[in-house]
Amino acid sequence: MPHTARSHHRRRRVPRPLPLVAAGALLAAAAVTLPQLTPEASAATTLRGYADARGVRIGAAVGDSPLTSDSAYTTVLDREFNSVTAENAMKWDALEPSRGGYNWAAADRLVAHAAAHNQGVRGHTLAWYSQLPSWLKNGNFSAAELNTILKKHIDTTLGRYKGKVYAWDVVNETFNEDGSMRSSLWQDKLGTGYIANALRWAHAADPAAKLYINDYNIEADNAKSDALYTLAKQLLAEGVPLNGIGFQSHFVVGQVPSTMKANLKRFSDLGLEVSVTELDIRIPLPASAAELAQQSADYKLASENCLGVARCAGVTVWGVTDKYSWIPGTFSGFGAALPYNESYAPKPSYTGLSNGLNPAA
Ligand code: XIL
Repeated sequence: MPHTARSHHRRRRVPRPLPLVAAGALLAAAAVTLPQLTPEASAATTLRGYADARGVRIGAAVGDSPLTSDSAYTTVLDREFNSVTAENAMKWDALEPSRGGYNWAAADRLVAHAAAHNQGVRGHTLAWYSQLPSWLKNGNFSAAELNTILKKHIDTTLGRYKGKVYAWDVVNETFNEDGSMRSSLWQDKLGTGYIANALRWAHAADPAAKLYINDYNIEADNAKSDALYTLAKQLLAEGVPLNGIGFQSHFVVGQVPSTMKANLKRFSDLGLEVSVTELDIRIPLPASAAELAQQSADYKLASENCLGVARCAGVTVWGVTDKYSWIPGTFSGFGAALPYNESYAPKPSYTGLSNGLNPAA
């Protein structure tokens, strides 16, 4: 069990004959030489222990319901992860269900929880076609009005969490599979220029936050990632504050793309951060032992495909446990996509992810 090894690890690092004070000083000295993001959980054999040792993020998408009602969930979340993403609580329909009527409660809860447990927060998401409140979706606003509304949303949201969110998915899912721009409220009324505007407004609102374009099915070298690559290059050439690309990585077992690492590298070579932002690996139910073993190898490969690239900032898993995963509700017949099973036992995929984070494995 990975999480029981903490005390063993500590003992190994400090020779027994040393007096306690000297041992403490040694540990402190060791701690400052490591790029530790979360000194609280320094047990090297947890996911966050390995991530801390490399100076990267291991994140999980967090639902407000388990966060507030399931202590087994928060125990695993806080022990294993040094970053969190709101699974839904920072989406527009959650934050502003009626025009001007904000509901920050769930998002604030997550941000406060993260601060209390030395976790960073990835902000998700600002300009997206989905999970928009109906007043916005059905409001028949003019282009000028939509511009003002989007800017206000970005100013208000980033302003509230300024200094507390290390990266924002400013734009989410803006391409079709063939690389054309996907139809959305923003695209249809404002044209592709909304992307540069959103990034500029976000940078002005929180200059320290890393600003991302996030999408799915861009992990492989394909028409969609080619189009994103062209756009990213163009935005950078224009001086638009784009800092990173988020590769959602919602995979099917056995189907981590063979071109994933090279594809992430070409974005990294532009000077952009790359992050795996929503990793899960779904299995047709019921999952066999062979599929769970393949899934473990997939978790290792997917995390290595990012962490092996120069500017990889980290890997976020889209959930913690199969108990609350979005997969069964969205991909009929699939499930078992995460590193913990429904009763919080680590699955083979936990070991795969852990080995992916640990260069010595
Ligand atoms: C999903 C959530 O997990 C679900 O709870 C919700 O019902 C729908 O959205 N890409 C994204 C995420 O960027 O926001 C989505 O999250 C999953 C796909």
